[in-house]
Amino acid sequence: MYTFSDNLLHTLTTARKIAVLTGAGISAESGVATFRDPDGLWAKFRPEELASMDGFLKNPNMVWEWYEARRKVVDSVKPNAGHTALVEMQKWYEERGGRFTLITQNVDRLHQQAGSHDVIELHGNIIDNYCSRCKKPHEYRYTSTAPNVKEPPRCTYCGGMIRPAVVWFGEMLPPDALEAAQEAAETCEVFFSIGTSAEVYPAAGLPIEAKRAGALFIEVNPNQTAITRFADVSISAPSGEALPALFASMLAKNNIL
Ligand code: APR
Repeated sequence: MYTFSDNLLHTLTTARKIAVLTGAGISAESGVATFRDPDGLWAKFRPEELASMDGFLKNPNMVWEWYEARRKVVDSVKPNAGHTALVEMQKWYEERGGRFTLITQNVDRLHQQAGSHDVIELHGNIIDNYCSRCKKPHEYRYTSTAPNVKEPPRCTYCGGMIRPAVVWFGEMLPPDALEAAQEAAETCEVFFSIGTSAEVYPAAGLPIEAKRAGALFIEVNPNQTAITRFADVSISAPSGEALPALFASMLAKNNIL
């Protein structure tokens, strides 16, 4: 059972500008591996070999098959109660004329599947594909029923290798997404960092930018991270449990208001 301070609940129920940054941890309870947990992807694979253009050019078939394997997992899982709580919070704030901006580092689109809208995807997504040479979008989509595609399809325009629409190490983040995320961090009253180790910039800098701009910084993570010491409120719990409990407490508090 989770209890939250009256002060926190008052702040959350009276604030009207909320920004949320999520990382792989919010999808962990759906069954999607994180990156840096002891059983995470980077414990088994080297990121530069798999999540970089160099790695892709060196070994396109291995990289393509690794993403197909991740797509198979993403295709088979469902959003969890943490994703759903954020959908309900977004609705609750917007019904009151507020602004709820959801920024994610995740590429699994579980937020959208749960019902969140206008999600800012800082690291792209694993569903879409485009040509690594001419950059044109490509129609290939993973499906559980289609035969295993063992190597990157070829671009119908230029013959280049098709790649997943994720942001790889060493690549720029989509400028519009980053700008929107920074604007939300700088103007919000409350900033949540949920399920991220805060190891990868510029995403990891957003909570600190928000705090510096005057926001209340709340971290939701069962483990300590590089930014836990800066959090005004640290909820050390799995997001699939903490977020529904927090939203339920907000509703209870609000009914009293
Ligand atoms: N609820 C909340 N947080 C959780 C849960 C959970 N149930 N389970 C694990 N976590 C936390 C872990 O404690 C960890 O701090 O989620 C965090 C996951 O951290 P990472 O695996 O580093 O994932 P993330 O922060 O999203 O990585 C950022 O790095 O490799 C790149 O592009 C990749 O977007 C990714 C970026």
